[in-house]
Amino acid sequence: MIIRRAVKEDYISFVEIEKQHTGLPCWSVAAFSKEEENPYSVTLAAEKEGRIVAFLNFHMLRPEVEINLIAVDRNFLRCGIATRLLAKLREYAKKSLCTSVILDVRADNAPALEFYKKEGFRVEGSRPKFYNDNGDALLMRAPVRKENVL
Ligand SMILES: CC(C)(COP(=O)(O)OP(=O)(O)OC[C@H]1O[C@@H](n2cnc3c(N)ncnc32)[C@H](O)[C@@H]1OP(=O)(O)O)[C@@H](O)C(=O)NCCC(=O)NCCS
Repeated sequence: MIIRRAVKEDYISFVEIEKQHTGLPCWSVAAFSKEEENPYSVTLAAEKEGRIVAFLNFHMLRPEVEINLIAVDRNFLRCGIATRLLAKLREYAKKSLCTSVILDVRADNAPALEFYKKEGFRVEGSRPKFYNDNGDALLMRAPVRKENVL
C-alpha cells in the first residue's frame, strides 16, 4: 500500500468511500477540488494495488494541525490504514513545526473514538448539538510526536 498526495482523479473514489459510512460531512468532488486552492490543506490518498482504499484531509495551521475528514473503505477496515495515514500526517506536521493535532468527532462514533484514543488523542471539550442532525461533538487533541503520548 502507498500513501501519497491525492490528485483530482481520486476524488470520485473518496466520495464513494464517504457514502459507505453514516454521519460524515460528505464532501463532494467539488469540495475536494476546492481544497486545492487552500495552501494550508493537504489531502492524502491510500492506494492498494491500484485501488483507492482511504483518504485523509487536514489543515496545517501552525502550531496545530486540524483533521477535517478521514475515511477507510469498509472492506479494508482494521487493516491499519488509518494508522498509516495518521503517521504520514505526523511527518508533515513535524516538518512544518506543528506541535499538536486537533479534531472534532461525533460523540457516538465509537470506532473513531477508539482509533483516536489509541493515537494519543484526549478529549478536551465538547460541543452539544454541533452537527446538523443535533449530534454532539467531542473536541480532541494529541501531541504530534508520538513519544509525547502518555
Ligand atoms: C475510524 C476509522 C478511520 C479507522 O480506520 P481503520 O483503518 O479501520 O483503523 P486502524 O485499522 O488503523 O485501527 C487502529 C486502531 O484503532 C482502533 N479501532 C479502529 N476501528 C475500531 C473499531 N471499529 N472498534 C474498536 N476499535 C477500533 C483499534 O484500537 C485499532 O487497532 P487494532 O485493530 O489493532 O485493535 C474507520 O473506522 C472509518 O473510516 N470510519 C468511518 C469514517 C469516520 O468515522 N471517520 C472519523 C470521523 S471524520
